Amino acid sequence: MADNKNNGSNKKDDVKREQLTTRQGRPVTDNQNLRTIGNRGPATMENYHFLEKMSHFDREEVPERVVHARGSGAFGYFETYGTVGDEPIEKYTRAKVFSGKGKKTPLMVRFSTVAGAKDSPETARDPRGFAVKMYTEDGNWDIVGNNLKIFFVRDAMKFPDMIHAFKPDPASNVPNPERMFDFVSRSPEATHMITFLFSPWGIPATYRHMQGSGVNTYKWVNEEGKAVLVKYHWEPKQGIRNLTQEEANRIQAKNVSHATQDLYEAIERGEYPEWELYVQIMEDGYHPELDFDPLDDTKLWPEDKFPWLPVGRMVLDQNPKDFHAEIEQASFGTGVLVDGMDFSDDKMLIGRTFSYSDTQRYRVGSNYLQLPVNAPKTKVRTNQHRGQLDHRDPNESGGNPHINYEPSMIGGLEEASEKDRKPHRPTYNAEALTAPIDRPNNYGQAGETYRNFEEWEREELIKNLSDALAICDKRIQDAMIDHFTKADKDYGRRVKEGMEKKMKELEEMKDDQLPGRESKWVGFTQGSI
Ligand code: HEM
Repeated sequence: MADNKNNGSNKKDDVKREQLTTRQGRPVTDNQNLRTIGNRGPATMENYHFLEKMSHFDREEVPERVVHARGSGAFGYFETYGTVGDEPIEKYTRAKVFSGKGKKTPLMVRFSTVAGAKDSPETARDPRGFAVKMYTEDGNWDIVGNNLKIFFVRDAMKFPDMIHAFKPDPASNVPNPERMFDFVSRSPEATHMITFLFSPWGIPATYRHMQGSGVNTYKWVNEEGKAVLVKYHWEPKQGIRNLTQEEANRIQAKNVSHATQDLYEAIERGEYPEWELYVQIMEDGYHPELDFDPLDDTKLWPEDKFPWLPVGRMVLDQNPKDFHAEIEQASFGTGVLVDGMDFSDDKMLIGRTFSYSDTQRYRVGSNYLQLPVNAPKTKVRTNQHRGQLDHRDPNESGGNPHINYEPSMIGGLEEASEKDRKPHRPTYNAEALTAPIDRPNNYGQAGETYRNFEEWEREELIKNLSDALAICDKRIQDAMIDHFTKADKDYGRRVKEGMEKKMKELEEMKDDQLPGRESKWVGFTQGSI
């Protein structure tokens, strides 16, 4: 594991040095001293370079992401295999990004943690974001996923409350697991995700050694407009590595940016990380033979029934040159799909699709899509223009700058033909209502996951849960033990025993120890001279 030494040296002696200028292009001759009356001041007000320098500095940061604020990223490419397993990919999707074996599509990736602030430790027990933006020949395609393959909740309505519970206490600003378990104990569908999160799978060792997954269910649409359900999975060629809590603590004591540093340095060394993209495919429909709903993101699709089929690989071979411009301002969304793809009715996916571009209009600005990292590499022709910092290419008007509306008989942009893009048209016959889905099956897969872990992973899971639950209210403890017991009797029993042992230890511990050692003031005091 890399130490916190100075990474990727900034000393580039071979680069010709250029003159500093103001942002208006005038050379700066003194960048050290304010303009003053005499060399002790007062300072004058007309010092344009100082005023510009300071006021720009005052505005340097954009708001951090409301979730996934801490992250890093890189650029690279996706190479399609042209097939899905043994079959031609066109059978399932007409998306051009997949056609033509060996075709490469440029992309960028941003990895992240979820709950912490922008500079928080990368050793947190937290899902890791795994967001990919592909600049395809047919416009941008984003897979905004996580390292884990499932999620805490299955209905977007619950997301803001969930995040509030996971973030620090709003009064004290102190993180408190009791708030998280309070929410989770009232949301039994989270039992499966909690089982992963408190195991070593909750702290990936680095970004290079973790899986990625789209988590939500999407659709693929073929030439005839026929759709199948699809899930995406990224598998790291570097292998999967996770940390125990103790290993994470040791790294965190020395380095709060170990994952960013690891990714950056590996790419600088020319060790380009690589992932293979797999899909799972399911016929669109209710699937009464399954004990879960295929649109429920708290569930894994069993691999024996829905095998992982390889469709391509991703290589990251280029670091950002400007973190703020290329990574901080990068804006991903679940609505960013290309022709040949569609939305399923997964209730999380639909809720997310509103949230991403909505927050980005606020976080980055209404013209966030014009920034180089977010703009497609294909031509954009749109009548959605103006707004702050609009610097769109005037040619986007489609050759007639007078017509910025559609339809028109005298010029401007025209709709594309449906001829080669036969739409997928699902039909519905049901009443509108607010209700949970059938087949919640909140515990079945949680129990299976628990049993499938290796013993060291189970031990770690029990210890981490016991430590966190030991400080919770008894009502929360009882509800959580009940969930774990319903998932697997042994699971519930071991957490209960571990938690009670930890509570005893806490009781016996003296809590009157202040951190640090007392010091006396030894500086100059009045009268000491
Ligand atoms: C980031 C909302 C569920 C993965 C974000 C952001 C918002 C958001 C507002 C910040 C975006 C930005 O500022 O650019 C939601 C909502 C969800 C949800 C409302 C549920 C209803 C999920 C799920 C996953 C996920 C299930 C994983 C599959 C991510 C990732 C990012 C992110 C990876 C960071 C993207 C980046 O690197 O910029 N989410 N999210 N989210 N979300 Fe979600």
